[in-house]
Amino acid sequence: MPVRPYQPKDRDAVYDICVRTGAAGQDARGHYLSDELLADVYAGPYLALEPQLAFVLEEGGHVVGYVLGTAHTAAFVEAWRARWLPRVASRYPPLVEPARTGDERLIATLHHPEWMLAPELVPHPAHLHVDLLPQAQGAGHGRRLVETFLAAAAAAGAPSLHLGTGDTNTRALRFYERLGFQRLPVAGAEGTTFFWCPTAMGGSKFR
Ligand SMILES: CC(C)(COP(=O)(O)OP(=O)(O)OC[C@H]1O[C@@H](n2cnc3c(N)ncnc32)[C@H](O)[C@@H]1OP(=O)(O)O)[C@@H](O)C(=O)NCCC(=O)NCCS
Repeated sequence: MPVRPYQPKDRDAVYDICVRTGAAGQDARGHYLSDELLADVYAGPYLALEPQLAFVLEEGGHVVGYVLGTAHTAAFVEAWRARWLPRVASRYPPLVEPARTGDERLIATLHHPEWMLAPELVPHPAHLHVDLLPQAQGAGHGRRLVETFLAAAAAAGAPSLHLGTGDTNTRALRFYERLGFQRLPVAGAEGTTFFWCPTAMGGSKFR
């Protein structure tokens, strides 16, 4: 299955994969007020602002997985606030906080991208999201996608990367541990486990 750079025509497939894998790795369709909400937080900003760092996995001409992210989280947060939020804010107006429901938490995340600048995360300026449809999982493609992203982030000047995954996503936790990522304690990040790794791991010594 080839991994290739993201193209704008892949947008709907990426959005679809995002929601089909968005409940701790399981299908999240119907969980939120819109099936696009998850992707408007965790995929759309990256496709719009950092398309050169998005890659897709194809099977028989269909996109079945992706990796996306940024090499420079601080600049990305600024771009999110300046250029992404205005595009989607009318669909998801700011809510009275504190957020209580799943919808409210996602909308709060959308309106406060600065959550990505927790002091523990700042030393690792790149971050990524990787998702594969069930039929593409467990065959080494997740590793290939992550390796592709690490190499691209290194080429873009990021020495290291962080990422977060839900505490209940056991499969993803084991995957990142197997890839050699190190746990990164982040104060106040209840429900999310963070990892970091040097982007140089994207080279041939990654295995
Ligand atoms: C998590 C995910 C990205 C992993 O990708 P994948 O293609 O299934 O994983 P791979 O087949 O590339 O596995 C890579 C390595 O991790 C290991 N691994 C993967 N899942 C594992 C598990 N549950 N337990 C132990 N090891 C595991 C593999 O054995 C493999 O080891 P090897 O390369 O040394 O042989 C993929 O399953 C997925 O998209 N899941 C749904 C969405 C999701 O949860 N995304 C992550 C959100 S943070």
